[in-house]
Amino acid sequence: MHPLRVDVRAATGGYPVLIGGGLADGLGRLLDEHRVGRRRIVVSNPVVWRLHGERIAKSLGGPELVLVPDGERHKHLATVSRIYDSLVRFEADRGTVVVAVGGGVTGDMAGFAAATYLRGIAFVQVPTTVVAQVDAAIGGKVGVNLPAGKNLVGAFHAPALVAADPEVLRTLPRREFRAGLYEVIKYGMACSADLFARLQAAAPRLADPAADALEPLVADCCRIKAAIVSEDEREAGPRRVLNFGHTAGHAVEAVTAYRRFRHGEAVAWGMLVASEIAVARGLLAAPDRDALKALVMSLGPLPPVADLAVGDLVAATRHDKKVVDETLHVVLPGRIGAATIVSDVTGAELAAAMERVGFGAGRRAR
Ligand SMILES: NC(=O)c1ccc[n+]([C@@H]2O[C@H](COP(=O)([O-])OP(=O)(O)OC[C@H]3O[C@@H](n4cnc5c(N)ncnc54)[C@H](O)[C@@H]3O)[C@@H](O)[C@H]2O)c1
Ligand SMILES: [Zn+2]
Repeated sequence: MHPLRVDVRAATGGYPVLIGGGLADGLGRLLDEHRVGRRRIVVSNPVVWRLHGERIAKSLGGPELVLVPDGERHKHLATVSRIYDSLVRFEADRGTVVVAVGGGVTGDMAGFAAATYLRGIAFVQVPTTVVAQVDAAIGGKVGVNLPAGKNLVGAFHAPALVAADPEVLRTLPRREFRAGLYEVIKYGMACSADLFARLQAAAPRLADPAADALEPLVADCCRIKAAIVSEDEREAGPRRVLNFGHTAGHAVEAVTAYRRFRHGEAVAWGMLVASEIAVARGLLAAPDRDALKALVMSLGPLPPVADLAVGDLVAATRHDKKVVDETLHVVLPGRIGAATIVSDVTGAELAAAMERVGFGAGRRAR
């Protein structure tokens, strides 16, 4: 087993992101090699643990286990509190490492518990979704939702190590897998023409790729995210380009109460909206927009948006976390593989782009 290794620089030192098929089976040895923690407590959820728990437990030598309920609606302080209770029960101390095994929800919560328990203990990310492998597990952002909004409470707490095994992605439900691929497309469009071209080449089978086709794509995204967060750990500047597609995307999620779209699907719509704005401004050539649209559509149809009123969506962007000093920062592509952040996109511009992409005109009750 020779995993690919990408290093992330962080204020606390740095950490490796290891990517490789079969890593999950060698986790214990990996943590030994990297001298991560004497005692290991796994945080996972019942869905992931049923599918992959046995071999991970075996490789870790029967670790103590905390199972948290599955689903975004459980990503809140009450669940973190349950993790604290378990850490106390297992007598976790400063030498204990929390090993998060799951998607972004598990990683964000377990990481937040690790960031705050005893003012911070070590943690390891073992991401098991596309979203978590290419995005959530890297960069040290951890946190939970409040009733008032997503990810409103959190911390920056760098993991000691990230171990991404693309083979575990095979058990993902199709829709979940596809939703993650939209974030992969995001990296291509916003950061890497190379990756974009590779995705285009893989497009006919992208939604159902051969096992060995997935690993290089995951690795590419990890490299991009690692490079960006190494430059800008706290999202003061460059890291914001990763929000490409997320302005309209978050609005779509918010107006549908986070029920109708997977996050990645909403981001896919958001990328189409942002490219439309960029074309209207003369920033992006129309064929580049069309290439993005074709790549997105190659994964199959997105959940429809014709019944969502642009007025409601534009209103929703005003509550976005990307609003800094009352200015909405929007990431616009300049060409395939490069994007810039602008702070002068008007509501009317956003609305016009949404209508062109296929959102419902006007403002009406849901
Ligand atoms: N911290 C960050 O920088 C960051 C970045 C992006 C997203 N996030 C967060 O990540 C969350 C979304 O993550 P997600 O998309 O991974 O969702 P998720 O964690 O809810 O996982 C999606 C579903 O897939 C299941 N699952 C996980 N691995 C599986 C596997 N290998 N086989 C079968 N099923 C599996 C999960 O149990 C869940 O039901 C959001 O809360 C978001 O805010 C955080
Ligand atoms: Zn995202």
